[in-house]
Amino acid sequence: MPLDALPHAAAPDFRALRDEQFPYVARAPYLNAASMGPLPERARRAVDAYTLRRADIHRMRGDDFEPTAARCRRLASSLIGAEADEIALLPNTSFGLNLAALCLPLRRGSRVLISDREFPANVYPWMALERTAGVTLSVIPADEHGHPDEARLMEELARGDVAMLAISAVQFTDGWRADLATLGAACGRYGAWFVVDGIQAVGQLPLDVRAAGIDVLATGAQKWLCSPFGTGFTYVRRELIGRMEPAVVGWTGQAASADLERVLDYGTEWLPGARRFEVSTQPWQDYAGMAESLELLLAADPARVQAHVAGLIDPLAAWLHARGVVITSDMAPERRSGIFAFRPEDVRGAYGAMQRAGVGCVVREGAIRLAPHLYNQPEDMARVMEVLDECLPR
Ligand SMILES: Cc1ncc(COP(=O)(O)O)c(C=O)c1O
Repeated sequence: MPLDALPHAAAPDFRALRDEQFPYVARAPYLNAASMGPLPERARRAVDAYTLRRADIHRMRGDDFEPTAARCRRLASSLIGAEADEIALLPNTSFGLNLAALCLPLRRGSRVLISDREFPANVYPWMALERTAGVTLSVIPADEHGHPDEARLMEELARGDVAMLAISAVQFTDGWRADLATLGAACGRYGAWFVVDGIQAVGQLPLDVRAAGIDVLATGAQKWLCSPFGTGFTYVRRELIGRMEPAVVGWTGQAASADLERVLDYGTEWLPGARRFEVSTQPWQDYAGMAESLELLLAADPARVQAHVAGLIDPLAAWLHARGVVITSDMAPERRSGIFAFRPEDVRGAYGAMQRAGVGCVVREGAIRLAPHLYNQPEDMARVMEVLDECLPR
């Protein structure tokens, strides 16, 4: 396909949003939201303004604390179809997965199911639990494409002895999307907890925790949610909150600590909702930024982001296909996402050319991984084709 015949699929308002909120990414194609997303200007300004108030400390105000966090919880819950009191603000995905590992009622001998080739954040907490609590960890081999073998996972669930299934909504290597609704329904039917690592999904496509029957969803906000490092959130289904005893205990999780003038009146009552899982003093300045980013993404609408990103990837996929390059991502509509991976014969050579051209991308498990987001535009993908054109065999 000649480069000038590319369909221009990007919605014009995303271009305006890019110019206004992500001016720096226009300098060279940044196609790496699956590693870290850029901060939009409104988030950067909010963090800067907060930090200035912090320096000029008499200007700190009541809204700088709990109301900022409450705004994040509300916005986060709207992104995933939950309620604000089902959200705990936690610093990364791992913290949320550890929360599930340590607080779900799992016992010695409980069977925990994961798939082979999961990102390690969703492996080590379960391996640790095997050592410390004696749970039985069943690691189900990936299918021949390296994706979770859902048929096999369903068979294991149907045995009725699985206490918990933990899986990524979107695989980090090539963007393969799990069929969360089917897995979640099976977990519900056979009495297993359903724990989801959401970091490669939330922000780039619609996700509804209730429709998918998810019990716990953990995500950092540093990637597709374009938020400061050290921000993230975990959803805990309302009915479970009371059954999960906090394992890492913060004084702010206790209702008795609400009155700062009398914190020595110790209590025994957790705060209502998932806030009980947040541990004490928070990175408030970062939440001020996170709230802005979440609001921006909600307004952009994850369904529109998904369509925009697919429209960016399609012409590149067609072009690579025509050049005989192996595309490792599954392009079926129900499996594809905003992560797109391909394997030229000379991966290192092609990656080197992309790096020299300033294209933000990475190599993961032997393939080049691109992760365009709402700020990317067709010319970014055209540039990738230009760069690859120079180094792919004719
Ligand atoms: C699927 C998945 N889970 C988790 C993480 C990161 O975990 P954390 O937010 O704990 O750093 C990544 C990427 O770094 C990932 O791709």
